[in-house]
Amino acid sequence: MAHIVKIMEGFSFIPRSELTLLEALESQKVDMEYQCREGFCGSCQVQLVEGEVEYFAEPIAFVADGKILSCCCYPKSDLTIEIPGGCRIKKE
Ligand code: FES
Repeated sequence: MAHIVKIMEGFSFIPRSELTLLEALESQKVDMEYQCREGFCGSCQVQLVEGEVEYFAEPIAFVADGKILSCCCYPKSDLTIEIPGGCRIKKE
């Protein structure tokens, strides 16, 4: 089932279900921090304001309460997230 991802101070979109949250945000040209893309480094963290995600791999990085690693999870419900530093869109 498709879920809506809402970015605080940003916009909402419906990601393709096969995409991780990080890939889904990148598909919308959201400028995201990342390094390992495998749950090790923690640089892709976003605040989960509302909703649920499902991890396909157990995150290794320390994840503070209320935060999620966008590289290794999928939306499990409609989500509202807050991106550290705000939502920036890449210009091409
Ligand atoms: S990019 Fe390293 S934990 Fe997500």
